[in-house]
Amino acid sequence: MAESVLSTKSFNGARVVSFESRLADAMAQSISHHGGIPVVAPSMQEIPLEKNPEAFLFAEKLFRGEIDVMIFMTGVGTRFLVEVLTARYEKTKIIDAFSRLTVVARGPKPVRVLKELGVPIAVMVPEPNTWKEILEALDMSAKSVELEGKTVAVQEYGIQNQDFIRALRKRNAAVIQVPVYRWALPDDTKPLLEGVEQIIEGKIQFALFTNAFQVRNLLKIASENRIEDKLRAALKKVVIASIGPTTTEALEEAGCPVDFEPTRSKMAVFVSETAEASEALLAQKNTIPSVRFARKNAEPQSKTLLHDCAFLKACRREKAAFTPVWLMRQAGRYLKEYRDIRAKVSFLELCKNPELAAQAAVMAREKIKADAAILFSDILLIVEPLGLELEYSREDGPVISGEVRTLAQIEKLHELNPHESLPFVFEAVRQTRAALNPNIPLIGFSGAPFTLASYMIEGGGSKTFLETKRLMYSDPGVWRALMEKIARGLVKYLNGQIEAGADCVQVFDSWAGCLGPEDYRKFALPYTKQVIDGLKKGVPVIHFGTGTGTFLKEIREAGGDVIGVDFRIKLDEAWKTIGYDRAVQGNLDPVLLCGPQKLIRERVQMILKQAGGRPGHIFNLGHGVLPQTPVENVIALVDMVHELSAK
Ligand code: CP3
Repeated sequence: MAESVLSTKSFNGARVVSFESRLADAMAQSISHHGGIPVVAPSMQEIPLEKNPEAFLFAEKLFRGEIDVMIFMTGVGTRFLVEVLTARYEKTKIIDAFSRLTVVARGPKPVRVLKELGVPIAVMVPEPNTWKEILEALDMSAKSVELEGKTVAVQEYGIQNQDFIRALRKRNAAVIQVPVYRWALPDDTKPLLEGVEQIIEGKIQFALFTNAFQVRNLLKIASENRIEDKLRAALKKVVIASIGPTTTEALEEAGCPVDFEPTRSKMAVFVSETAEASEALLAQKNTIPSVRFARKNAEPQSKTLLHDCAFLKACRREKAAFTPVWLMRQAGRYLKEYRDIRAKVSFLELCKNPELAAQAAVMAREKIKADAAILFSDILLIVEPLGLELEYSREDGPVISGEVRTLAQIEKLHELNPHESLPFVFEAVRQTRAALNPNIPLIGFSGAPFTLASYMIEGGGSKTFLETKRLMYSDPGVWRALMEKIARGLVKYLNGQIEAGADCVQVFDSWAGCLGPEDYRKFALPYTKQVIDGLKKGVPVIHFGTGTGTFLKEIREAGGDVIGVDFRIKLDEAWKTIGYDRAVQGNLDPVLLCGPQKLIRERVQMILKQAGGRPGHIFNLGHGVLPQTPVENVIALVDMVHELSAK
């Protein structure tokens, strides 16, 4: 155990769960030796390869030619299915039989294994490889795999996906589930279940996986006890350490991203290196315990950290060591991690689940190393408590039902009481704030009255804003009643977010640019001003719009410590018009992030040059990150802004 002698840092009293079975005692000792409190949760026992009845039943059908389509879900499972079957049959016979089927590979890992084996693949499923993409790929593949009346075998490794099986059966396919077992749960599952419960209760800081099968059994026991969702959510806050690449692969396939892998796949090295890195890992994980730790010891210090961060300095137009950067829609579909969350819940469910919302916001911030996090939510959530229906469809974006065109309809809208109707938003603010590093500010937000009114009147997005403008022009009294009702609600809503812990708020007037300067002044400005004037002082306000280059003076007049600027105007011109007594935010064209990094760098340099080193510039895009954006360009952008602006 030479490594442990070299180790200088310890687990420092953290609770460390180990799923090792055969060497459970040795692991426990090693964890204690490195200053951790071991929680021993043996997760498996080996069963002989040939005791896989389902696999052999499947093989009989396979050789009799009764299977038409085979879907390989995971790499590890594909490998093991072949290994199990070779206990009884010739490998060439198995491969020949597979080669006669329509073979579907769910992702790059089964693709790799099948290629190694020499099995031709008919359909490769594109990212993010959820069951929805499998169905789409089947429907859209050149040969369009017809499922009607076919027998489809689904290789399963880990937890079965009932939604997927149901969807296949709905297409009139006969489905055979082919699980492969190598490791069963131990005879006594009590310690494992206790370990799971401790994870869910937030008592565990580190989870050590020493074998690829442990994760499957862990999820299995949780699923059997109907606490899989809770376990998965809780595991996000635990540092997950894996002994080596195969275990990592299995964990990642199971949707548990790995935080740490040692330099060598040896148990002693594993425990000592994890202990060595434990402090950094905890900090990186943004776990609530580490924040609590920081708070308990340094409540005043964490306040100073926040107050002195580059982002809040820029909001106050104070000099900072570099230009802070964050991106609108930084938590969105361009991130695989986001798509993974969305594969499990709808967008609205995500917005209404404070824990998941906090996870999305913190994950995105961490992933791109932005200087601020933005609350994960949506400007349209307030339309439900006003009395309208809200839906997000994949094709058309938001769809709002309920007519809002006459005075009677507007009077029927409820007064917004956000503490009663939108408590999950405030809870998401609290949880996000608690999970963020103490030096990273959290931005709360709402839509501006004009943009929200346009969604409500049009029933969704619009190109011409015909109905909105028709109402505005033809019935100014009705317009005013609606705008004032929204504005009153927004004051309560944003102040609620500030009370819950938002360090800054942004007001999105995304569609103000469809108005000309006079109409903006008459029909939008007074109500945005009413909102901003009603906010608690001391928390900076960012006022953002797009297409507002011709009336920035009016935008400024409506209020905001920071004025958002889109890419249709040069930043230096914009700032000059706005006045140097306000900070500015912007303004790279989001589409540029889909271009070459060399060009991105040139444009970053150009924007920084236009900002002229004047304090009070927050770097951002002119509008939100597009789903098609390569994530590496987003990460590179943040790095470039930091590097090129460092004083
Ligand atoms: O990372 C972040 O910026 C935080 C979260 C955030 C979202 N929406 C998440 C979201 C914020 C700040 C918003 C604001 C928002 N929502 C605006 C103002 C900003 C802007 O883009 O102008 C507007 C106009 C909306 C309304 C809205 N929400 C539209 C038009 C759409 C559909 C279009 C799209 O991009 O998908 C949404 C859905 C939405 N809001 C998504 C996200 C991550 C995508 C939902 C999904 O499919 O997962």
